[in-house]
Amino acid sequence: MIVNFESAVENLSKNGFLDIEIDVRLDLFDEIEKLKKEKNAIILAHYYQEPDIQDIADYIGDSLGLAQMAEKTTADMIVFAGVHFMAETAKILNPTKKVVIPDFKAGCSLSDSCPPELFKRFKEQHPDHIVISYINCSAGIKALSDIICTSSNAKVIVDSLPKDQKIIFAPDKNLGAYINKTSGREMVLWNGACMVHEIFSLEKITKLKTRHPEAKLIAHPECEEAILRIADFIGSTTQLLKYTQQKEFNSFIVATESGILHQMEKLSPEKTFLAAPTDNACACNDCPHMKLNTLEKLYLCMKYEQPEIVMDEQLRLAAKKPIDRMLEMSKALGI
Ligand code: 13P
Ligand code: SF4
Repeated sequence: MIVNFESAVENLSKNGFLDIEIDVRLDLFDEIEKLKKEKNAIILAHYYQEPDIQDIADYIGDSLGLAQMAEKTTADMIVFAGVHFMAETAKILNPTKKVVIPDFKAGCSLSDSCPPELFKRFKEQHPDHIVISYINCSAGIKALSDIICTSSNAKVIVDSLPKDQKIIFAPDKNLGAYINKTSGREMVLWNGACMVHEIFSLEKITKLKTRHPEAKLIAHPECEEAILRIADFIGSTTQLLKYTQQKEFNSFIVATESGILHQMEKLSPEKTFLAAPTDNACACNDCPHMKLNTLEKLYLCMKYEQPEIVMDEQLRLAAKKPIDRMLEMSKALGI
């Protein structure tokens, strides 16, 4: 723990966050509320953030909702409680606003699975294809893409394109395969995946379903095909949340990151939610990147306005085009 501000800043690139001691008697909820007003700041949080962060956020959403909110906010400072590519997207849309993130090292295995240099060569091998990239990618990949999509709008965007349009879909092979299957397409897929959604155990889920025959298995499309095949409903985090609010269903097995259970339980306290079991040693489906953010780091990044997202302007402009296209298409398609 570093107490001195100057040395905390010096160590920022190594640590990813400001490692400054906080007085344990401080009520961080109150302090964060004060900072919000003082700095005209908005806290945008993804559903996979820890419950305390979700509870203090001004807006909680999935990747599409967060991008849409980032586009329209009038706040001076955007505090992005999510992973790096999400905060970067907010900065791409808001070059004049300050965008801060509690922990700069909150990355994404899916985004990391698609390095721009390799992807550029892959793209050159398919010159007659357009590129649709899932928003879970770096600005470098966005700059090489024609349209960005999220799990909320990917299928609708692909379906809106002419049937004979050749498409490369990156970086998530599971979401890409799911769209190929449901849309009858043959998109060329980049071989990337999310470490959290690939660890669900088909065998354990099947056993759980047998023990809870009334429970609906709901899954995020980043899950592997074997899990999606037995799911009762497939959707983005927001779509899964909405599904659980339907009156006729009372019990769910949830195959996505566990952070979403907080909102599900809050919105439907009388219902039962079971986290889908995994194959990994710790048997948890927490995203280690999302969970790097804590309430303490959130408070520090608001107070000291660091770590801040800064971007090369040329890269920002190139990455913005396919995001703008997604936002326009989403609006036109009513999503
Ligand atoms: P959505 O926010 O589109 O549901 O995607 C989930 C995810 O993995 C974000 O990192
Ligand atoms: Fe990336 Fe998966 Fe974590 Fe989402 S849940 S941030 S896709 S590693």
